Amino acid sequence: LDVYAVAGNPIAHSKSPAIHQRFAEQSQQAIHYGRLQPALDGFETAANVFFAAGGKGMNVTVPFKLDAKAFAQELSPRAQLAGAVNTLSIHNGKIVGDNTDGAGLVRDLLAQGIRMQGARILVLGAGGAARGVLGPLLDQLPQQLVLANRSAPKADALVQLFCELASTRQLTLQSARLIDLEGSVITNAPFDLVINATAAGLDNASPISDSVANNIFSPKSFAYDMVYGQVTPLMRQALQRGARVSDGLGMLVEQAADAFLIWRGSQWSEAIDPRAVLDELR
Ligand code: ATR
Repeated sequence: LDVYAVAGNPIAHSKSPAIHQRFAEQSQQAIHYGRLQPALDGFETAANVFFAAGGKGMNVTVPFKLDAKAFAQELSPRAQLAGAVNTLSIHNGKIVGDNTDGAGLVRDLLAQGIRMQGARILVLGAGGAARGVLGPLLDQLPQQLVLANRSAPKADALVQLFCELASTRQLTLQSARLIDLEGSVITNAPFDLVINATAAGLDNASPISDSVANNIFSPKSFAYDMVYGQVTPLMRQALQRGARVSDGLGMLVEQAADAFLIWRGSQWSEAIDPRAVLDELR
């Protein structure tokens, strides 16, 4: 049996084992997929042991995505751009790091009928979660993408990193502070799509004030929170202003589907049905 695992800390509540078992069943394959909880400074050791024992692939979640990038012997272009790795596989004897988070987000949005082409998009947050999805979002050719963060330097640095990609796609990429969203700095509000990539939802808080919410949401907006399993405060603010909302469960399932196909081969893409797995989890 080929062995896979997800590594994170904490990891007990991860849905990844269940998701991958369902993909295996759908494609009539047998795999073993387990959970690993390395110590906070123990990712490298755990990954070495896992692959030395014959492990075929690993998903990596909080807080090890940078450790996984360092561990990989080769990086896919999108992992390089994302600055983080969520999927490790073996290719020609080398451990390859990839990042399927952004592709997962984009596919979930498209499946929910959200077109990003020509859209005005606001991304909240400038940490690893935001960086991981910016490339795939820009590939969808939005008209404008504003990256807003609590602290300005991180947003500025991230915009700097992606400005070449944005200019080759002839779209506007700008950084802002969250409090700017209240004033005149942002002229194109309300936004078609607002993506919360901050860690605020985990503390049951919204990254934005109610008056900012008044500015950025209209009934035509769609608010997406990468956190899953709850209606977050940001989703509530959006709902109160008539916008449609989604949590991040679909992104989780879709990024898992990409990882499954990296490991098992793209010939299984027709056999697995991520939307059915998502319905089962809801
Ligand atoms: P991740 O890898 O999950 O993105 P991170 O790199 O620590 O984690 O980044 C967390 C992000 O959430 C940052 O953009 C952070 O804002 P700062 O850069 O200003 O710290 C944001 N964040 C966390 N808690 C927040 C809160 N309560 N309100 C607004 N933003 C918050």
